[in-house]
Amino acid sequence: MIQSIRGTKDILPNKIKLWQYAEDIFRTVSNSYGYYELRTPIFEKTEVFSRSIGEETDIVNKEMYTFQDRSGESLTLRPEGTAAIARAVIQNSLLQSSNTLKLWYSGPYFRYERPQKGRMRQFHQYGAECIGTSNPESDAEIILLANDLIKKTGVSDYKLLLNSLGSSFTREKYRFALVDFLSAKKDKLSEDSKKRLKSNPLRILDSKSPQDIEILRDAPTILDFLDEESKNHFELVKSLLENTDIEIEIQPQLVRGLDYYSHTVFEFQSSALGSQNSIGGGGRYDGLFKQLGYKKNVPAVGFAMGIERLLLTLEETNNSPDLNNSIDIYIVSTNAENLKILQNIAQQLRNKNFKVLYDLQRRSFKAQMREANKTSAKYTIIAGEDEIKKGKLIIKDMANSKQIEYPLNKIAEYNFPK
Ligand code: HAM
Repeated sequence: MIQSIRGTKDILPNKIKLWQYAEDIFRTVSNSYGYYELRTPIFEKTEVFSRSIGEETDIVNKEMYTFQDRSGESLTLRPEGTAAIARAVIQNSLLQSSNTLKLWYSGPYFRYERPQKGRMRQFHQYGAECIGTSNPESDAEIILLANDLIKKTGVSDYKLLLNSLGSSFTREKYRFALVDFLSAKKDKLSEDSKKRLKSNPLRILDSKSPQDIEILRDAPTILDFLDEESKNHFELVKSLLENTDIEIEIQPQLVRGLDYYSHTVFEFQSSALGSQNSIGGGGRYDGLFKQLGYKKNVPAVGFAMGIERLLLTLEETNNSPDLNNSIDIYIVSTNAENLKILQNIAQQLRNKNFKVLYDLQRRSFKAQMREANKTSAKYTIIAGEDEIKKGKLIIKDMANSKQIEYPLNKIAEYNFPK
């Protein structure tokens, strides 16, 4: 048997209702904040990601699905959405109006990671990007939108970690201080972090190695290095969030796994997820557009969450909604000759948006009734031979077993309560 690729999953019919339930919420909540959907291709030229996410990140270094197509061009299955959205915004000249551009997206993403609970090689993200303003109220709005999405799907067990990476000037000063501090302890750092001390020292803050974590406990924190403007920005984001019911935890070592961030960074985490505890995260990325070749800097802030992780949190905390899978009407027949009649009744009722089934296997009347019960049909229509001859049908209310006779040619007019 040919198996699916490691780290990928089929989303089976018994799970799809939950996905569609969540996707409906994503659409409704995005719309309520005035965000429009943008769909980009699932693969891009490799440089879209390598130029923006950062050459020294795990994503670009080890996790991208990169291949050459038949013309020898290097292409990559998208590992995240933000860079592709920025590429699409530039290419389609969406920045011409003076308004902020508010976009959301959802779909499959690809990272060659070691699969485990909540970590896959093909996973799905919902994301939102607010492009064109550097004002802190847009950072707060993105966080509110993210919080609403998570909360409205029914997840309650989570916390929000918040930090600021400040301006490039802030990070430059902080980098010196951090390198200074870590150089004195270089021998004890993990091999990866030793390398990063030269190439990208801020990434060390993201290390999962226990020895690095121990050393980092006493490291200088970036919040002590914020310049005036960065500090003001962060203070306003915090105070706008304090104005809501979101609980924030300031986490000065939060840098996130992508290099394009400046100022605000944040992450929603749930302990129900185990080691892969991040439901979603994001931040401000004022330098990304220029890195991708746009003529000037475009301030922007955004967020993405893993849909598998969101749904996993719902399941792990027993908060999955009770999603009704029942059908409205099951039509049973006592005579296989009545196929055309069955089909006609079903079509008339389906045109009225009822969910209608009938047996396609020509089973016995008893077996059909059993099936009607099994599907939790609200109504059964019995197309009995004698009734049909009289131009009648029997309508049975399955909740109280009451039945009535009804004219066959008027069935579309019957008022089935939804
Ligand atoms: P990210 O933190 O790399 O950010 O990914 C966002 C979310 O995607 C994670 O919090 C996690 O829930 C989910 N995720 C990531 N990798 C996997 C995986 N291998 N398996 C399952 N779920 C995964 C970004 O992608 C940024 N583009 C977010 C952003 C948008 N920043 C600004 N705008």
